[in-house]
Amino acid sequence: MEKLHIKGGNKLYGTVKIGCAKNAYLPILAGAILCEGKVKLNNYPFYKDILNMTNILENLGAEKTLNDGCIELDMTNLTNYEIPSNLSMLTRSSIFSLGAILGRFKKAKVAYPGGCDIGTRPIDLHLKGLRALNVKLIDKRGYITCDGSNMKGGIVHLDFPSVGATENIMMAGVLTKGETKIINGAKEPEIEDLQNFLNKAGAKIKGAGTNIITIKGVEKLNSVEYTPISDRIITGTYIIACGICGGEIILENANLNHLEALTDKLDKNCYKIWSKNNSIIINSKGKHNAITKIETMPYPGFPTDLQPQIVAMLSTCKGTSVVVENLFETRYKYTNELIKMGADIIIKERNAIIKGVENLYGAEVYATDLRGGAGLVLAGLMADGYTTVGNVSQIERGYENFEQTLADLGADIKKISV
Ligand code: UD1
Repeated sequence: MEKLHIKGGNKLYGTVKIGCAKNAYLPILAGAILCEGKVKLNNYPFYKDILNMTNILENLGAEKTLNDGCIELDMTNLTNYEIPSNLSMLTRSSIFSLGAILGRFKKAKVAYPGGCDIGTRPIDLHLKGLRALNVKLIDKRGYITCDGSNMKGGIVHLDFPSVGATENIMMAGVLTKGETKIINGAKEPEIEDLQNFLNKAGAKIKGAGTNIITIKGVEKLNSVEYTPISDRIITGTYIIACGICGGEIILENANLNHLEALTDKLDKNCYKIWSKNNSIIINSKGKHNAITKIETMPYPGFPTDLQPQIVAMLSTCKGTSVVVENLFETRYKYTNELIKMGADIIIKERNAIIKGVENLYGAEVYATDLRGGAGLVLAGLMADGYTTVGNVSQIERGYENFEQTLADLGADIKKISV
């Protein structure tokens, strides 16, 4: 088993190049199922979730080549339209493939998805959307079996702007006759990126990035080369890391526009953040005031995927902060670990009340999920003494070379095998 071993207290200085967004790459990989030809994606990130997703594509019949940081997928000879549970349980994103498999084969059988243990994570909105496109569904014994032989465009009104449901329905509509309209769709930048990828391959989608998306069915998608957008959650994680530790870092290939909900909340007296060309520069004195209230919301609201990292930071900010988690009801599991490090946090249903303490101290903690694990690493960077973070594989689902990148910035952190 591997753990991260951290000695807190170092400031961070240097440059990090941000890679492609996991949450853009994953649906784009699913979108590749719609392409009858070769799909080349640049800047392949080595996250475990991406590897799990490419395994799913290979199981469908794709031929994969990794070359010079790019992934090339030959999608010509797909024959399989099923995702078994041993592959599906490894990533939540397996469910995104359902719409694309249906688009390509007009039938699909997909086992229920796995992913982070942060709440119930239903898929009712995905299924409601597919039914609106005239898909017949049987939801039985952990598998969703779909007959799409009479699929046609339709209007899907989402009760909640679910990212995955929006992407799934978009992909289902691409090769379906007629016009599909998604109303109250999610507006995340990764959805716009999926639209751009699919349109480059020949799809006719417009409106992604707004809450109404229109998809005009086309006959076929072709070969395509594409570079997905950079990862706003990793960018945000390093912005918070620099805030916590103090110092000055440059994040290359990063888009500050995608992070306004975060930067708007940060203490302007201690933090200077600006962008130049394609980079973000962060200068921090390292000690901040509490933030009265942060509520996680769908984009452009505060991202739930940065909630644990900001709570880690708030645990030593001066005063009391309140965080409200509106998306995933059990996304506070990691706070029990932060409390072991001396944090003063009370959880009341969806609210976290965080009384800033002077210092955290090192402890042996456990990554309960991907972003919760990242939050614990950030806490370790500022804690007095030594922290070990177990269950590193959770963190590696969404961060590539996390410990090496932080070490290159000056943090005292290394991965150890125990
Ligand atoms: C995506 C992101 C994840 C992020 C989340 C919210 C990817 C690969 N993952 O996950 O990192 O934390 O968006 O920004 O892009 N819901 C339903 N029924 C459904 C679907 C969702 O009730 O059928 C609810 C969920 O329980 C949750 C909310 O909608 O409360 C948001 O979930 P959703 O936007 O679907 O998240 P994911 O697409 O799973």
